[in-house]
Amino acid sequence: MTKTPTMRLDRLLANLGYGSRKEMHGLVADGEVILDGVALSDANARIAIGPDLPRRMTILGAAIDPPPPMILMLHKPLGVVCSHKEAGRRIYDLLPQRWRVRDPALSSVGRLDKDTSGLLLITDDGGFLHRVISPKRHVAKSYVATLDRPLNGLEGEVFAAGTLVLEGEDKPLLPAILEPLGEREARLIIEEGRYHQVRRMFAAVGNHVTALHRDRIGGLALPDDLAAGEYRVLSAETAETVFGA
Ligand code: URA
Repeated sequence: MTKTPTMRLDRLLANLGYGSRKEMHGLVADGEVILDGVALSDANARIAIGPDLPRRMTILGAAIDPPPPMILMLHKPLGVVCSHKEAGRRIYDLLPQRWRVRDPALSSVGRLDKDTSGLLLITDDGGFLHRVISPKRHVAKSYVATLDRPLNGLEGEVFAAGTLVLEGEDKPLLPAILEPLGEREARLIIEEGRYHQVRRMFAAVGNHVTALHRDRIGGLALPDDLAAGEYRVLSAETAETVFGA
């Protein structure tokens, strides 16, 4: 059986972004950190850190944030960027401010373009992140693309062949599945995450994507009740459904 990890309380709270370790000593002294209904008095005490902590601990009267490993799904809205480097409103601006200073830091699992909406996973768990993006895992990402021109009926075969080489690249894409949804709308299921891949795939067959939305990663679908801009923390069990069919 694996032992539950422990961490000093002041360090745990500081790593979760609640403030400096000194400030955390102040909060504890003020009786603002409660575990199992009892105010903690020693900020140096070691605390067992498990996924049940938010059900057991409050800070300033609210449930403590989930400790690492934390995995969340965001319904990324249009016009928001995933990269820390790009200018503009960032996905991290949609999350609680203290999450920007969490240690370990949160990163998106792959990226969606500024002009793409839909399901985006965000995590501080590097192992999970790499398992999702590794081509060896064959995690299928499903996109709904709206197109400028009607489908010509040949795209499915071209995408499925596993021979399509995108402009500026020399390695062919893995086979992908196209499912027409209308004259100018299609679902495209891909296992890779190359730069602007879906837009470039349609450009390669003479079309142009005017809107793009990701509705599924592996076995995890974007829930209908998660509005654009909203996020939800996932249980470890739900996060693992990414690796299901
Ligand atoms: N393919 C794209 O072209 N853009 C995305 O955001 C994701 C996949």
